Amino acid sequence: PFPILDDLRRTSPIRYDEDRACWDVFSYEDARNVLLNHRVFSSRRGMDVRGDSMLVMDQPKHTQMRALVNKAFTPKSIEDLAPRIANIVDDLLDQVADGTEMNVVHDLAYPLPVIVIAELLGVPSEDRALFKKWSDILVKAPENNTDEAFAQVVAERGIARTTLNDYFRDILKQRRANPQDDLISALLQAQIDGQKLTEQELLGFCLLLLVAGNETTTNLIANAVRYLTEDMAVQERWRNTPTLTNTAIEEVLRYYPPIVAIGRIASEDTEIRGQRIAAGSQVVSWVAAANRDEAQFPDADRFVPDRTPNRHLGFGLGIHFCLGAPLARLEAQIALPKILERLGTLTFDEGTPLVPIQSTFVFGVKEYPIRFK
Ligand code: HEM
Repeated sequence: PFPILDDLRRTSPIRYDEDRACWDVFSYEDARNVLLNHRVFSSRRGMDVRGDSMLVMDQPKHTQMRALVNKAFTPKSIEDLAPRIANIVDDLLDQVADGTEMNVVHDLAYPLPVIVIAELLGVPSEDRALFKKWSDILVKAPENNTDEAFAQVVAERGIARTTLNDYFRDILKQRRANPQDDLISALLQAQIDGQKLTEQELLGFCLLLLVAGNETTTNLIANAVRYLTEDMAVQERWRNTPTLTNTAIEEVLRYYPPIVAIGRIASEDTEIRGQRIAAGSQVVSWVAAANRDEAQFPDADRFVPDRTPNRHLGFGLGIHFCLGAPLARLEAQIALPKILERLGTLTFDEGTPLVPIQSTFVFGVKEYPIRFK
């Protein structure tokens, strides 16, 4: 699905795009270096939808904020969630398993991560329809390249942000009065240099965890099922060899990455491949192109379910490497084998239109109806 990116990587591994006023890098080496070099390529991008969160902070504040939630996301603490995740997956599959078809996004890939993150944060998972609506808006791209479309998206995002902030402000109030054993209560107690987090910072955390953890994991699971229906040989092999699961999930992250591009801002004049990049320029690290770079991945255009090593950039790299990676991996590692085992052969009807998510940095489909037997 990324032929244009492949062409660009081969013909112009770095280019300046006048329309978007930004530099694009497509090779694995450059994409990796931009992400690793956080001193020169800052995360303090303007016009960002993700609010006041660590995602858009630089050191040293970033390190301090991240340390506050790190403990909740170590592979060890995430592993404790496995039985609960397995339960949720089974409940969701129970609702479709008697039939012969399901909508992978609606019936499983969307509800699973949102229930898990809601429980972790400590917000009622019944509110998930609301989360879905507002977090969709936060990642939506303009319909076209006009100023009007752009202004509309900015306005819609503003409303979504305000609505979610009001919602979380309410939850913060409840937890202040009545702490529970959840992440929001823990964040209310947290301190940096003897200071509690500001309301703004607390809200930034809530929004980031909600949005960053939802769309992405939904797309990982849906993209995995999508790939399986496109390659029956791999589907059979994976079903018969459950030990392939971990490497196969990593291969989905390489081949169909939920996040295809990561933006930075040059904090000083710099150079990539002899091109001069002025301080203040936007630079985009194209994960989807880098992940198919032959220089890093032998047979890059082929999906290799047991590919090792597989140093894909699907979760980013460096100091902002995805905090939720252990959680996203675990959810996918539990969901996929259950889907394969419980539903049998999965197929997608050729005639069904694929409706891609409208976004410049998210790769996924809005719906994915499949048949199974
Ligand atoms: C950061 C992808 C799931 C929370 C990132 C970044 C990527 C990414 C590419 C780096 C962004 C950058 O460098 O600017 C993904 C993908 C996921 C996923 C593909 C699912 C397959 C999750 C989940 C959570 C989460 C489940 C939390 C519950 C975060 C946070 C950051 C982040 C908090 C910011 C980390 C920092 O700035 O230090 N994610 N993510 N992500 N992700 Fe994820």
